[in-house]
Amino acid sequence: MSRIHTTEEKQLIDSLGRVHNNLRISVTDRCNIRCFYCMPAENIEFQPREELLTYEEIERFVTVAATLGVSKLRLTGGEPLLRKDLSKLIKRLAAIPGIRDLALTTNGLLLAEQAAALKSAGLDRVNISLDTLNEQTFEKISRRPGLERVLEGIFAAQQADFKKIRLNAIAIRNLTEAEVIPLAQFARIHALELRFIEFMPLDAEGHWEPEDILTGATIRSLLENELCPLEPIERDDPSQPATDYRFTDGLGTIGFINPVSEPFCGDCNRLRLTAEGQIRNCLFSDTEWDAKSILRNTRSDHELAQLLRECVAAKLPAHGIGQPDFKKPTLAMYQIGG
Ligand code: 5AD
Ligand code: SF4
Repeated sequence: MSRIHTTEEKQLIDSLGRVHNNLRISVTDRCNIRCFYCMPAENIEFQPREELLTYEEIERFVTVAATLGVSKLRLTGGEPLLRKDLSKLIKRLAAIPGIRDLALTTNGLLLAEQAAALKSAGLDRVNISLDTLNEQTFEKISRRPGLERVLEGIFAAQQADFKKIRLNAIAIRNLTEAEVIPLAQFARIHALELRFIEFMPLDAEGHWEPEDILTGATIRSLLENELCPLEPIERDDPSQPATDYRFTDGLGTIGFINPVSEPFCGDCNRLRLTAEGQIRNCLFSDTEWDAKSILRNTRSDHELAQLLRECVAAKLPAHGIGQPDFKKPTLAMYQIGG
């Protein structure tokens, strides 16, 4: 077995000195719901299954990425739990030398059935999307029913005893305001960490408008007015995009991911692998590096490593949302990986 040893010159460092140790892997573009901020309502053309990377191909990709210093993985989609036997992939990835943190982002609908198997396969952390506690609002957002199952999934994850469980709520003006206090209270009562994420221009139908932004700062003042003052928690990892706060009554914490109002591109350490095997260095860039053609054409690991380096070297300083020349990416969130 080859030893993993990452020297500085082998790391994925871009022209701004950002060290890329964090890889988000989409395992499918399919989803069992249709959140309006991510997917179109209908007429979706999903990738044919044979176009998706196999578990063997993903494993090989990650093994090479790990030799270049990638140590943190997150599986996303679409909805990753729709991919057959995801636990098998988790088991393979958890065994790769150099991988120290393995996380999953899910909508929670299939989590109750799978939580125990995911945990025993080696999954460390789970983020579950929860935008509302009201079934009607859930159906309005997701265009499908299912809130009860999501809640069951959350409680099953707690039973499975993951290192960390987080709830992610989208923050959209004229939608999320009414959800802020119920979601915060739910998280506090159940000892869950909740984070609000500003709506980004990654929906499929061009709904996003700058006016839709509900900033973390606005949500914070809603919480302080209704609940109690919040106190910032010092972040231990500068590349993590959330700013977290503690409720000063001692009951729980809350976080904000503000990619639009307070871009964190300067500390970005993330790369993405799409379900069909393309590497991307930013959610907002349409440029792709074709890993699949290397994985499928018996080309070498060395070429794969070179492709990763090229992708990182070409990373732009910032997403540019709000700049006059900003162009919304052509792919929507479900096609890139959330
Ligand atoms: N803006 C911000 N977050 C988004 N997500 C999906 N689409 C968007 C968007 N346009 C988030 C969801 C979910 C995760 C998979 O990605 O809230 O938590
Ligand atoms: Fe599915 Fe997640 Fe997109 Fe919602 S945000 S449609 S749950 S992939």
